[in-house]
Amino acid sequence: MLNLSPGPTHIPPFVLRAMNQAPMHHKSAETTAVFGNIFSTLQHVYGTQEPVLVFTGSGTLVGEIAIQQLAQQCSSVLTVSSGRFGQRWTDLCQRYGMKVHCVEAPWGEQPSLQQIHNACEKFQADAFVVVHSETSTGTFQDINAMCETVRAVHPDCFMIVDAITSVLVHEFHMDAWNIDVVLGSTQKGFGSPPGLGFLGVSERFVKELSPTAGLYGNIPLAIEQWHDSQVSFTPALHVLKALEQACEYIEQYSVERMQQRSAYLRDQVHAIVERCGLQVFSKSPANGVTAVQIPNAQAKHVKHNLEQSGILVGGGQDHLAGDIIRIGHMGFCEPRHVAQLIPVLSHCASTIDLSPDRDALMKIAEELLVSPFNDRSIE
Ligand SMILES: Cc1ncc(COP(=O)(O)O)c(C=O)c1O
Repeated sequence: MLNLSPGPTHIPPFVLRAMNQAPMHHKSAETTAVFGNIFSTLQHVYGTQEPVLVFTGSGTLVGEIAIQQLAQQCSSVLTVSSGRFGQRWTDLCQRYGMKVHCVEAPWGEQPSLQQIHNACEKFQADAFVVVHSETSTGTFQDINAMCETVRAVHPDCFMIVDAITSVLVHEFHMDAWNIDVVLGSTQKGFGSPPGLGFLGVSERFVKELSPTAGLYGNIPLAIEQWHDSQVSFTPALHVLKALEQACEYIEQYSVERMQQRSAYLRDQVHAIVERCGLQVFSKSPANGVTAVQIPNAQAKHVKHNLEQSGILVGGGQDHLAGDIIRIGHMGFCEPRHVAQLIPVLSHCASTIDLSPDRDALMKIAEELLVSPFNDRSIE
């Protein structure tokens, strides 16, 4: 099955092969060397000199660690919700007892800076929580401009960014943008199996942390270990080995080129969608995921037909279940993979009474197949 889902994304064979061995001991010199390499690439990808901690668990775990810590020192938080993940962080902040004010936008849109500014004027925010790339709708949010807007009113506010589908996909500069906490995970832009979550933490945030009773999500403890290229508890060692291979490739291929490839694929997927007679759902489309509006509530039917033809995509979530499909094109997704979508999606479009422009689609396929963004050396 060709994986064009919004994640877990396509894992290339050389990354999968790295897991086919007995586990290392988690406190061995070998593991320390692996962590050293991974920590260095994570800092590079995040655009930071600060620690990017690694926890065994999914992206939600690192988000929960950050929010749990936040709740001990902040009483009020401003959130943005324009999709499922913004909603999830808003809900989590409420569950941890913080006073939450949520700036909402319709799904597929980002709120205006004026909305954010107005919310800040009315509401004292100790922290601001926002998703960079909202995977549920394929929507990019300009988090740098949003954080600046918040900072202009509340200069000491902590900035917490969910970058789970944006690091390696969109430009990201944790230090230059003054972000305090950045969430990430293995299974999106890093093209690795799920199982590890990343938590970039600023010195300012760490200094303000109240002592915490817990162990697993204890950030100061994890930072001590980080300085020794270690983690506190037995990590998912096979995922770690896979991630190390992916990181080695990313450094050699270049972070910027990975981001450019996703942006190129976004443009090509948009062209395919439009030539099939369909429409891109988001008004602010992300580089790594394209949500496609499917007319007459036929999204489940189209997703099923794509799967029958060997292509896995994501369905719509919550109220969008019948209306959109989501195509992932981040990480190790290459133009030659997206080219395979063309005959199948255009066939699906004709089954729902649309008239794909087959000549134009053929030209896109040709361009994709010879694109320099294909890297056949990795098989
Ligand atoms: C933007 C975003 N945030 C959070 C999550 C949750 O991550 P996980 O499923 O790894 O817990 C996802 C997963 O798709 C996501 O795309």
